[in-house]
Amino acid sequence: MKIQSFLLIALCSLAALTASAQTRNDLSIPHLEKHGMATQLIVDGKPFLARAAELNNSSASSLEYMKPLWPKLVAAHLNTGLATVSWELIEPEQGKFDFRLVDGLLKEARANDLHLVILWFASWKNGKSNYQPLWVKTNQERFPLACSEDGKSMPTLTTLSDANRDADTHAFAALMRHLREVDGKKHTVLMIQVENEVGLLGDTRDYSPVANQAFAGPVPKELMDYLVAHKDTLIPELRDVWATNGFKTAGTWTEVFGPGKPAGMAIPVRTLSPPLTEQEHETGWRNLHWPVDEIFMAWNYARYVGQVAAAGKAEYNLPMFVNAWLQQRDHAWPGTYPSGGPVPQVHDLWRAGAPAIDILAPDLYVPEFEELCGRFTRSGNPLFIPESRAGAQGVANAIWAFGTHDAIGFSPFGIDRFAGSDLELIHAYDVISQIAPLILAHQGDGTMTSVLLDNGGAPQTVRLGNYNLEARFSSRSFGGVSNTPPERVAGLFISTGPDDYVIIGRGMNVYFTAATNPSDSVGLATVEEGVYAGGKWIPGRRLNGDETPEWKALRFRSDTYSIQHVKLYRYH
Ligand code: DGJ
Repeated sequence: MKIQSFLLIALCSLAALTASAQTRNDLSIPHLEKHGMATQLIVDGKPFLARAAELNNSSASSLEYMKPLWPKLVAAHLNTGLATVSWELIEPEQGKFDFRLVDGLLKEARANDLHLVILWFASWKNGKSNYQPLWVKTNQERFPLACSEDGKSMPTLTTLSDANRDADTHAFAALMRHLREVDGKKHTVLMIQVENEVGLLGDTRDYSPVANQAFAGPVPKELMDYLVAHKDTLIPELRDVWATNGFKTAGTWTEVFGPGKPAGMAIPVRTLSPPLTEQEHETGWRNLHWPVDEIFMAWNYARYVGQVAAAGKAEYNLPMFVNAWLQQRDHAWPGTYPSGGPVPQVHDLWRAGAPAIDILAPDLYVPEFEELCGRFTRSGNPLFIPESRAGAQGVANAIWAFGTHDAIGFSPFGIDRFAGSDLELIHAYDVISQIAPLILAHQGDGTMTSVLLDNGGAPQTVRLGNYNLEARFSSRSFGGVSNTPPERVAGLFISTGPDDYVIIGRGMNVYFTAATNPSDSVGLATVEEGVYAGGKWIPGRRLNGDETPEWKALRFRSDTYSIQHVKLYRYH
């Protein structure tokens, strides 16, 4: 090699190394930051609330297909789209990368003033391996698959292969390097989801020869050290398993965590009743079944995905998350939902094995929305919901998650199908976009909360500041609107002064009682309905009389979410 070429290569490598080292501590790029008890996504120096939606899996593979969608996303008041970038399309030939599609997505997103969260579909998508390039898919000698107990190969790359992990890592690092180069100053891309709903489907654990060997061996020291160091703060489900087996600090997987699935037992697609009893069917989806198998898989997925993420972050240090296909009724046993994915009972395994992952995120379609948000925010895990339902129910859940859990963002799945037609989402995202600066300013400091109200359900009372607020579902409405509210509505309350509140609500009445000096009676001093424009409150109607039932409650219209400002006073 000529000396000039050598110097050029050395200079380029040095520049790349310096650039990637800089991104590690660069607070000008999107990053997570603590704000009181909350964790916020900071974009261009300001906290950001993601009014997001996820595209269908294949949409972002064609810029042509995307063309008519962009304006619909904007019209739906989204500020962020979740879009797939797949390994097969960026590295069709080993080592030859093609980022034209990525660049096209960035260009269109910017032209529409939208941000992107990129979903890295690579080794796994929903427990299976479909998105790896053909040169990986067709070479199982080099890129081995997981096996079920009966010895059959599954259509799923095994976690226990350096070749699998390194090939994915190499491609992901190239993607992140490219993003740094083309977006490191523009910040269109906010976060990255690494893989999609990982875990093994079809059996409780990988039974390939290499996996069997690892399973028969000792629990890795790094994991044991983590458990010992975090013994008092472990997720209770995991701590219980460890306790039941005597808090051993060394041993094989089954010595430390107990026995796995009984030999020869096949895992059904769904856990119905039978094979479960009625009782188990109702309750079994909250329990751990053969925990050692799921713990073993969680550790191995976390190690693999953690390494992929770390290599990507070394190139461009964006926040990274993984998403979970949840354990649920009909899918109670590991293997009927992906075994080893980041479900709540194995969050510690993910924290220990994948420190480069910032957020463990739920794909939240189940009716137990509040319970799952609670289980996903234990141990300070920030809440970001990359997949959920839209419609009135989804919108209520989103508002509640913003108010109660300081959620970073909410993203119903499949926006292609309902962009333009889901008026519930459009109206709610409009209201949230108006009030987002206030929500963000109040995150994490105890001055904001929210309730969910179901038709026919009990009223909800919360204490906020100097008052107790009781919210009651109400289908009555005055002021020119008479729709029946949907079955579920949300109320979000922000305390803006000793006697002042800003409230988003719908189809509900809100009553106040004094929490300090409880013998005081509380009256409504002034009630305004209005909108925010450019962060400034623009009052509309002054509400009183029939619009404030019994002259002591706020009444929220039933047809859509609206914002009210209330000032209270006390009398004796
Ligand atoms: C969950 C997956 O994560 C998504 O990619 C998508 O396949 C949806 N399910 C479909 O409902």
